[in-house]
Amino acid sequence: MACMKYNRPEENKEVRLITVESLSKSFDDFSAVKEVSFQVGKGQVLGLLGPNGAGKSTTMRMLTGFIHPTSGNATICGYSILHEKELAQAHIGYVPENAPLYDDMDVREFLEFIYDLRGLASEQKKNRVQEILKLCVIEEVELQKIETLSKGYKRRVSLAQALIHNPDVLILDEPTDGLDPNQKHEVRKVIKNLSKEKTIVISTHILEEVDAVCDRAIIMSHGRICFDGTPAALKAQSPTGKLDDIFRTITQRQEALC
Ligand SMILES: Nc1ncnc2c1ncn2[C@@H]1O[C@H](COP(=O)(O)OP(=O)(O)OP(=O)(O)O)[C@@H](O)[C@H]1O
Ligand SMILES: [Mg+2]
Repeated sequence: MACMKYNRPEENKEVRLITVESLSKSFDDFSAVKEVSFQVGKGQVLGLLGPNGAGKSTTMRMLTGFIHPTSGNATICGYSILHEKELAQAHIGYVPENAPLYDDMDVREFLEFIYDLRGLASEQKKNRVQEILKLCVIEEVELQKIETLSKGYKRRVSLAQALIHNPDVLILDEPTDGLDPNQKHEVRKVIKNLSKEKTIVISTHILEEVDAVCDRAIIMSHGRICFDGTPAALKAQSPTGKLDDIFRTITQRQEALC
């Protein structure tokens, strides 16, 4: 789906597909996300890192319009998640943590069902589903019931359903969590391939994943951003050159401030 709002020539050099402005979320009196701001340029792959409970999923849920921020705003392709939620959502493909699937459908049937739910033109359905099956490397299981698939395939089916409407922006919440190393590799390969065309925000606990697929990393801790830069800049802050070490140092430093 083309981002029409960004076709003005003066904006073509550095198109910002995601802007997040002082986004906050409280649950009763607990503040889960605190005045988070960042922007993501077209084609960037942003890795969202942080310990359990840091506020990554809450931030993603706000970006995708699934929960309402307590304050602040965000735009996707120029559309506000507060005031133009449906337009913003039309440009987003979202794979939540533990994304639900319809187990008793086969893969093709499921993707065709999601295609119809999106209200897309029926004459292009077969071709689009075929394209997505290929893109996510799930052609060989297209006629298999979802409940019989391995976790790795299920994860790629989740990714496929998020791509059906050809969104500009992908929000992927821990897409390789719980997969074996081979399946992690396969899912990352698909994401890497998608990054040629899409702007991606991916949350992960796996620091090597940031190195493998991201060109930028944001570390959150206690609802705040405590690092924003390239994976190389992150590594450079570590005396050992290990991402794990600097992750611990940065997040523990933030913990001490809270
Ligand atoms: N609906 C909710 N009601 C109350 N508290 C919530 C709710 N959703 C999230 N929280 C709390 O907000 C904080 C941030 O949660 P969030 O799920 O965003 O963290 P996360 O960084 O995604 O963690 P993880 O790495 O474990 O997935 C946590 O303390 C969590 O318990
Ligand atoms: Mg989470």
